[in-house]
Amino acid sequence: MNYIILGHPGAGKGTQAKKIAVKFGMVHLSTGDMFREAKKSDESINKLLSSGQLVPDEIVVNMVRERLEKNDIEKGFLLDGFPRTVKQAEELDRMLRSENIKMDGIFLINVPFEESVKRIAGRRVCACGASYHTILLPPKESGKCDRCGGVLFHRSDDKEDVIRDRFSVYEKQTKPLIEYYKESGLLIYIDGLKSESSVFEQIRGCIISGR
Ligand code: AP5
Repeated sequence: MNYIILGHPGAGKGTQAKKIAVKFGMVHLSTGDMFREAKKSDESINKLLSSGQLVPDEIVVNMVRERLEKNDIEKGFLLDGFPRTVKQAEELDRMLRSENIKMDGIFLINVPFEESVKRIAGRRVCACGASYHTILLPPKESGKCDRCGGVLFHRSDDKEDVIRDRFSVYEKQTKPLIEYYKESGLLIYIDGLKSESSVFEQIRGCIISGR
């Protein structure tokens, strides 16, 4: 089972991808997580992420190609945050064709812009990967991770001015992917405005029914 999860910033891709990957034993491949790790030792990546700009296609594609060459991919994978440009989608198609891998579906999580901004502005994350929201999903103790006790922080790209830039990057560079994938017949629309568990059920239902 191989899926892609699309949606604009704050749509809930990461939240759902983590749960779906655990539920179905797939590899969760998040390019955002990979770059957040890379930026610790790479100042040019750090600058791009902190300003809400995309990492150049060539770097992203090579990183994903290397990851898809690992054996664990055979149990199925869920791409979160990739592809993000039509160029990346074309490269992914080429990679999959050459390895004889087929995609089973492409989830597009739809959430109104204002709701996403609200979600992103209140998001607080932990170095262990856990994610919270100051109002929608607060930790038991303010500022502290329920899972590991770590100190929660605000992502550098979750500041208001950068959020605006990320949305404009999405409109210009990522939204055209919807047209690109419409022709594949694999696009599945998900109502992301519902609760986390309801969004999860929509996606789970599609996977179980073979969509
Ligand atoms: P990435 O991490 O992929 O950022 P993004 O696409 O902007 O997505 P977000 O992580 O902001 O949102 P999400 O949709 O995952 O929402 P989440 O589940 O966290 O990429 C970061 C950067 O890396 C990019 O800007 C770029 O620089 C670079 N990059 C990554 N991939 C790249 C690529 N392919 N090419 C080039 N550059 C790339 O949820 C958000 C909040 O809402 C959370 O607080 C959560 O608790 C809450 N929430 C989630 N679901 C619900 C719900 N149903 N109801 C209420 N609250 C909810």
